[in-house]
Order: sequence, then structure tokens, then C-alpha cells
Amino acid sequence: MKGKRILLVIGGGIAAYKVLELIRRLREQDASVSPVMTKAAKEFITPLSVASLSGNRVFDDLFSLTDEMEIGHIELSRAADLVVVAPATADLLAKLAHGLADDLASTLLLATDKKILVAPAMNVRMWENPATRRNVASLRRDGVLFVGPEVGDMACGEYGAGRMSEPAAILAAIEDALRSDTRIALPGQPLAGRRVVVTSGPTREPIDPLRYLGNASSGKQGHAVAAAAARAGAEVVLVSGPVALPDPAGVRTRHVTTATEMLAAVEAALPADMFIAAAAVADWRVADVAAQKLKKGAQAPVLRLVENPDVLTHVAQSPARPRLIVGFAAETENLIDNARAKLAAKGCDVIVANDVGEDVLGQDENQVTIITRAGTEIWPRMRKDHVALKLVAYLSKLMEADRAR
Ligand SMILES: Cc1cc2nc3c(=O)[nH]c(=O)nc-3n(C[C@H](O)[C@H](O)[C@H](O)COP(=O)(O)O)c2cc1C
Repeated sequence: MKGKRILLVIGGGIAAYKVLELIRRLREQDASVSPVMTKAAKEFITPLSVASLSGNRVFDDLFSLTDEMEIGHIELSRAADLVVVAPATADLLAKLAHGLADDLASTLLLATDKKILVAPAMNVRMWENPATRRNVASLRRDGVLFVGPEVGDMACGEYGAGRMSEPAAILAAIEDALRSDTRIALPGQPLAGRRVVVTSGPTREPIDPLRYLGNASSGKQGHAVAAAAARAGAEVVLVSGPVALPDPAGVRTRHVTTATEMLAAVEAALPADMFIAAAAVADWRVADVAAQKLKKGAQAPVLRLVENPDVLTHVAQSPARPRLIVGFAAETENLIDNARAKLAAKGCDVIVANDVGEDVLGQDENQVTIITRAGTEIWPRMRKDHVALKLVAYLSKLMEADRAR
């Protein structure tokens, strides 16, 4: 983040106050922030607070002669590494979707040649209005990145989707957007109009109210796959077990704990065009979960385990079976043979096999082998977000080929 230049467009929404915290965090990470405020934004927070926290003057007027002489609006829109809109009002999203440019903020958004990341914030009815749905869909197709909105209580007293993501999540999405490597080709938006369901992370199977059986999956690979599918234009639902990662930008994330909950959330997210099962789902759960904390006694307790539902098999056998089903196989021995067996047994189309004996869980890099009925491809070790982009590009081609048949 050090030295990165963020052009921050602040829209006129009640969530504008959270942007002050975002600016503080960006500055802590040594990013520079050039703030732009809409006329409405200045009704919610003062330019003085924004200028003080950012250490930069606030730009707000398209027709200010001194601004144009010091730094023109075109230059301002291009000097940044990333353009961030927070809060992205329904109005700003509509303007951006339709190419309107009637003030400094909207003109900069139209004139920029940099990536744009938006953090929508609005009342749930505004967010769910068909006009906003259309605008969001066309912005996604245009490659605009999204973080949030979240579901929750709103300042107006209603409940639903439309809350702006918290500053920490926006910060993570900014890091993601700055990091994502353009050398990994994801031409255009190959998954535009597609619905993709992704699972990620571990599951936790309770033993008693405090203890659980878990596993070492960090969710990094699954979350990266969800983010890459969203970047490819898909509408993505991510069903995540307990992880220490922020929800990826532009993705609907459903949080679950156990394998049974994960299956229910996946089934609720169907139908979909593609299902990518990257979660490390526990094979077994404890048969008799203790209602109270187990006490240390003379004898250690014996846990009786029962088999969990197999999410991948359920989806593969579902009447709403997605066209493409992708499983991940984490193996510690006989990688290819075990992965091939999984492909056959679970009725999926692609297996992404990785040898977790080789220092992968929780790390930022992964080395995977792609197995289909047609053959095997060994990919070199690379960053997990690069694996995700390459995988999404690969799966998009499979979908295309399938459609052409
Ligand atoms: C109290 C109040 C809160 C508002 N909150 C929001 C909001 O959260 N999201 C939104 O899209 N519009 C909100 N609006 C409406 C916008 O301020 C209005 O559409 C404005 O024209 C947006 O201008 P801008 O997009 O140029 O910033 C709110 C208006 C008021 C009076």
C-alpha cells in the first residue's frame, strides 16, 4: 500500500462518516488520498475533517479555475493508482452506469483510465430497486469492482442489504484491487450473466459449547476463487466456514459453521451455472454434542463420530445440478490417483488437486493439478489469487466449449 495513490470519491450518504476512518487507515498504511466530495457529501461530513485526515485539499468543483490550472480534472482522474467511491450512492452508481458527468465526481469517474472500486451504501429498497439492480449488473459487466454492501440494520431503521462495508473490509478490497495482477489474463467478463456458488474455508463440528473439531483450511484459495469469478462478471455467492478473512469484494457471502449448515446454504443458493467446492468440509461430526462443557474426570471422553453429508455429491445429484461442478482435493499422498477417484465418485467435472503435505494450508501460494475426464494439467506453483484467476479463465473456456457443443 505504501506510496499508492487513491482518488477517493465521497458520495452523499449517511455512511460518509465511516469514510473518515477509512482515510485514517489508508494514511496509516502510507497510501496517499486525494479526496473528492459531491455537493451532497458535504451535507454529511465536513471538507475540513476530510482535508485534515487525508492531509490533502478536497476537490469538489468541476469549474474551479484555480483547480484546472493547478491540476485539471482529467489529470486528477488519471494520477491515481485506484479510484474508490465510498459511500457509492444510488445516484453515483446510476451516473456511472449511464456515463453521466454533471459534476466533478461523476466527470472524474467517466474520465479515469484506472480501476474503479465502489462501496455501495443505501436503503434496502433503493438497493433492491430494479433500476439499481440494472445499474449494478452493467457496472459489473464494465469491470467496476464492488465491496459490499452488507446485510444489516440501517440508519433509517430498516433491515436488509445496503449497509456500506466496514472500513477494514474496504481497505482489504483496496489492497486486493491494487494487488490483482493484470498479467494473469482474464479477457473481458467471460462469466457475465452467470451465477457461481463457491464454498471456502473449514467447517467446525461442535464437541461441547466451547470445543470443536476443525481443520487447518484458511479459506484463502476459496475466497480468491470467489473474487476472481466476480471479477469475471459472475454473480457470486460464497458460502464460507469460519475464516479470518474479509468478505471478498462484489460477492454475496453467507457465513456458516458446520458441514450441515454449509450444505443448507449451498442448496439455498442454487440454481447456479457453476459450483466450485473449495471448502475443507469435515467428513465427520460428533454424534452426541454435550450440552454443557465436558469436565476433566478420571477418564478422557470418547467421541463417537458420524458421517457428515457430502456437499459435493449432494449438489452433483441435485435436480438443480449446475452445468459445471468443480471439487478441490487436498491430499497428503497419492495425489493424482486419489483426485481421479474423487472425480469419478462424486460426479464432478473438474478436480483441482493439491498436495497439502507441501506447506500450502494458510500460505499465500499453491501448486495445483487440474484433472478432468479428458486429462491432467500440472500448473506451476503461484500465488493463490493467480491460481484463482487462471482457474476461472480455464472454467470459463470449459463453459464456452460446453455451450458450443
Ligand atoms: C439523511 C439522508 C440520508 C441519505 N442517505 C443516502 C444513502 O445512504 N445512500 C444513497 O444512495 N442516498 C442517500 N441519500 C440521498 C442522496 O443524498 C441523494 O440522492 C443525493 O442526490 C446524492 O448525491 P451524490 O450521489 O452526488 O452524492 C440520503 C439523503 C438524506 C437526506
